[in-house]
Amino acid sequence: MPDSAIQTMNLPLPLSRAAKHADEQPISELIKMALDDPALISLAAGLVDFETLPAEILAPITQAILSDPASAKTALQYGTTEGFAGFRQQLYEHLCAQDDAEPSSYPGSADDIVVTTGSQQLLNILAEVLLDADDIVIAGWPSYFVYTSTLTAYGATIRSVDLDEQGMVPQKLDRLLKGLSAAGQLHRVKMLYVVSYHQNPTGITLTTERRQQLLDIVKHYSQLAGHRIVLLEDAAYRELTYQGEAPPSIKSMDEDNQYVALCQTFSKPFCPGLKTGYGLLPNDLVEAVKLSKGGRDFGSSNFNQHLISRAISSGAFAKHVEVLKQAYAEKIQATLDALQEHFADLDGVSWTQPTGGLYVWLTLPEAIDTSRPGPLFGHAIKQGILFVPGVYCYPKDPTRKPPRNTIRLAVGVPNPEQIRKGIARLATAVKQVLG
Ligand SMILES: Cc1ncc(COP(=O)(O)O)c(C=O)c1O
Repeated sequence: MPDSAIQTMNLPLPLSRAAKHADEQPISELIKMALDDPALISLAAGLVDFETLPAEILAPITQAILSDPASAKTALQYGTTEGFAGFRQQLYEHLCAQDDAEPSSYPGSADDIVVTTGSQQLLNILAEVLLDADDIVIAGWPSYFVYTSTLTAYGATIRSVDLDEQGMVPQKLDRLLKGLSAAGQLHRVKMLYVVSYHQNPTGITLTTERRQQLLDIVKHYSQLAGHRIVLLEDAAYRELTYQGEAPPSIKSMDEDNQYVALCQTFSKPFCPGLKTGYGLLPNDLVEAVKLSKGGRDFGSSNFNQHLISRAISSGAFAKHVEVLKQAYAEKIQATLDALQEHFADLDGVSWTQPTGGLYVWLTLPEAIDTSRPGPLFGHAIKQGILFVPGVYCYPKDPTRKPPRNTIRLAVGVPNPEQIRKGIARLATAVKQVLG
C-alpha cells in the first residue's frame, strides 16, 4: 500500500519525445497580439475572410437536415471512420471535375477517399503512418510551417529544396536525392511534401511541367530506394485560383494511384469552422490511414459531412467559391498594387505574383532582419502593422540556415482598404530601418 503520508516532490511530467520536439507555433503569439490591439492591421493570420463565411448557405441546409426525422437521425449519429459513402463519391467526382477528367480514367476510386477533421488531420496521420524517427522528408524552402514542425515533432529530418516563381525546382530535388543516394541514405527518404497551388507561405503555384517532373523524379528514386517515396500533394488552396486556369493536380498524373497522396480541404474554399478535409490516397495507404484514424476518433463529424454534401449537390458550394474568388482576388490585387506603389523604388526588394490563394511573399534587402527580435518588427508594430517573419516558414533543415529578410503577407482577413494602409505602414517601417 502506498503511504499516504509520503512526501511528494515536484516531479517532471514524462512527456513523449514527440511532445518535447513540438515547437510552440510562433504564429499563435502573433494572432494574440492582433487580438489584443484592434488598431493593429494584421497581415499575419492565415484566417479566411469573415465577411464571406457561408452562414446564409448553411442556415437553410441545417434546417432541412434537422427538420426531417430521417435525415436528422442519419446526420446526428456516428458515421464511418472514412466518411459516408455518398459524400466520398461526391468528393471523388469533385476531384475528377477539377482535373477535367472522367471518373473512368481518373486514378483511384471513391474507395480511396478518406474524410478527415481538416486536411491538417490527414497530414498528421500521414506523418504518423509513414515515418519512423530519423526518416527523411523533403519539403520546399520555405514551406507550410505548421506541417513541417509536425514532421520535426515526429522525429523526421527535413531536407529542403528551393522554390522559384514556378514552384519547387526539379533539378535541385534531383540533385538532393542523388546526393542522398550516393551517401547511402536513400532508404531514409519516405516523403516529398509539396503545396502545389498558391503555396503557403509564398503564393507560388507549381507549373504543369514541373508537376510531371517531380513525380518522375519520385518514381525514379523510389526504384533505387526499394520503396515508394510518397509525394504528398497538399492542395489546400486549389479552388482559390483567381487568374488563369489552375494546373492539373499531380494526383491526376499518378495513373496507377501509387505515389501521390492528395489532400484537400473545405476550410479555404468554404469555411474552416466545419473543419472538414479529405484525401485521395494510394489504396494501401487508405488502410493504414483508416486504422490510425480509427484509433484517434473513428470518424470526423458526420453532421458536417452532411452539410457539405448538400451544399455540393445543391450547387451552393460551387457558387460560393465564385464569391470567394472575387473577394480574395480584390485583396491580392490591392496587396500587389500597394507593394508596387510603396516598394518599387527600394533596391533589393521583390515579391511574388500569386494568381490565387491568400499569401504574398516579400523579400527585403539582406540587411533588413525581419525576425521577431530584429529592428523591423518593432518599428512595424509601432506603425500598427503585423506580419509573419519569413524565418518562421523555413523547415528545420540541419544543413541550411534560413534567410532573415523575408515576410509572409496574409490577406484573408483585412479588407482592401486595410491592406493598402497596412502595406504603406510597412513601407514606412522599412524606410525607418534603412535610415
Ligand atoms: C498549406 C496548408 N495545408 C493545410 C492546412 C490545414 O487546413 P485545414 O486543416 O483547416 O484543412 C492549411 C491551413 O492553413 C494550409 O495552409
